[in-house]
Amino acid sequence: MEERVTFIVMGITGDLAKRKLLPAIYNLVLRKKIENFAVVGVSRSENSMKSVIGDAKKFVKESDQEIWDEIERRSKYIQIDFDDSEGYKVFGKNCLEIEEKFKLSGKRIFYLATLPEHFPSIVKNLKNLKMSSAKGNWPKLVFEKPFGHDLSSARDLNETILSLFKEKQIYRIDHYLGKELVANISLLRFTNRVFEPLWCRDHIENIQIILNEDLTVGSRGEFYDKYGVLRDMVQSHMFQLLSLIAMESPEKFEGESVRDKKLEVFKSLKIEDVLLGQYDSYKLEKGVAQNSTTPTFAVLKAVVNTPRWKGVPFFLKTGKALGETKAVIYVKFKEVNCSLSKTRPSDTDYLIINLKTNEGIALEVNTKIPGKNEVEPVKLDFRIKNKYGPNTPEAYESLIEEIIAENQYSFVRNDSIEYCWKVLEPWMKMEQPVYKYKKDSNGPKELSKWNDKNKVRWRS
Ligand SMILES: NC(=O)c1ccc[n+]([C@@H]2O[C@H](COP(=O)([O-])OP(=O)(O)OC[C@H]3O[C@@H](n4cnc5c(N)ncnc54)[C@H](OP(=O)(O)O)[C@@H]3O)[C@@H](O)[C@H]2O)c1
Repeated sequence: MEERVTFIVMGITGDLAKRKLLPAIYNLVLRKKIENFAVVGVSRSENSMKSVIGDAKKFVKESDQEIWDEIERRSKYIQIDFDDSEGYKVFGKNCLEIEEKFKLSGKRIFYLATLPEHFPSIVKNLKNLKMSSAKGNWPKLVFEKPFGHDLSSARDLNETILSLFKEKQIYRIDHYLGKELVANISLLRFTNRVFEPLWCRDHIENIQIILNEDLTVGSRGEFYDKYGVLRDMVQSHMFQLLSLIAMESPEKFEGESVRDKKLEVFKSLKIEDVLLGQYDSYKLEKGVAQNSTTPTFAVLKAVVNTPRWKGVPFFLKTGKALGETKAVIYVKFKEVNCSLSKTRPSDTDYLIINLKTNEGIALEVNTKIPGKNEVEPVKLDFRIKNKYGPNTPEAYESLIEEIIAENQYSFVRNDSIEYCWKVLEPWMKMEQPVYKYKKDSNGPKELSKWNDKNKVRWRS
């Protein structure tokens, strides 16, 4: 495809822009998904695209300097404060100049790669610019997560944005939805006879969604301390994954159909129990309050009150500074009542969807041990890189491609975001203990009681 597009990155000097967005643009250019384009980088500090690109380069292995040179040639850095209305006039003029230079068609993507508190001011200031006037469903506005910090702030934000732009122009990013294996969940479920009829309470015992990180909050302490694990991971990534596992089949695999089905899940979703933790050295992190009670670890028991899922627990576990990094969904099928074999393993029959390391899908089945009348579980193991090579597109690359193609399938709609906050909010407001846990451990020691109470045996 030969697309003409202007990327306007609000927050180009930030961590996300350097680590993810510029590398994604690089890969789209490399794969010739975009040929005629410009990049306008906006931030508060004195800087240059040369320097920002220099930083971003470190995040692309063995990159081709010619492509970086081309991106630099087609880019412009603009220094403004997001709250300074006068600055936007200079910015608007500069954008039009670069578009004229490269004969771009005015398809603009404003990517708000900055903290959510700046979203209202940026949106209002952009609306006053001539270059933001709508042509069809352009320009596009892309919002990073977290979208608000509770129900009321998300509502206010949606109201402000939707009073100025149409929902068709809005792309609320949850980068997990750009991951290849996450995009695979619906197709895997609905296109396989071995799964589709079994995907319900009659055959599934529980679902486990685990997003563990061995990293601490690092340099993001100030941001993280305001949000914590429930806002940072559960309201966004974990609920999105849960909705893909739980939703009914959409009529079509496109924007509104899928988003309608996901919304039905959020409307039926209820959290029944939560346990929170904080790693022992968290309060020593830069930017973290000395008396902080912000949780960095959470386990949750959720239920989806629909005929398909009634009585099936969804267990969610996520945290920072844990013993291992892991992003996995386990679908635990019920045991078969069978007397054919002398043995029947007690914790088997899982479908395992690996979202991060060794991305792929494994199915555990019981098979006969040679020479014995006994069975043991073996894994039928599919790894993406073995079949399709190591270079499948990264999440941000896929998502940007979808924005250019005007596909909202993998982006979160306003109503869904608000429902997710609504489901979580009682637990965010509730006073409850935040247990300490050792860095590099599996979480607080109180977890084992919680597991017993909720009858969960986490798959390791
Ligand atoms: N980093 C990640 O891996 C990641 C992952 C998922 C989601 N996100 C989300 O992405 C967003 C950005 O995260 P980040 O980690 O990139 O943040 P960051 O490193 O703090 O970057 C913030 C950017 O905003 C700019 N900025 C801040 N205040 C400004 C102002 N008043 N006027 C103009 N520019 C201003 C900063 O410019 P200066 O440097 O010039 O101050 C910087 O470019 C956040 O919503 C975050 O939750 C980040």
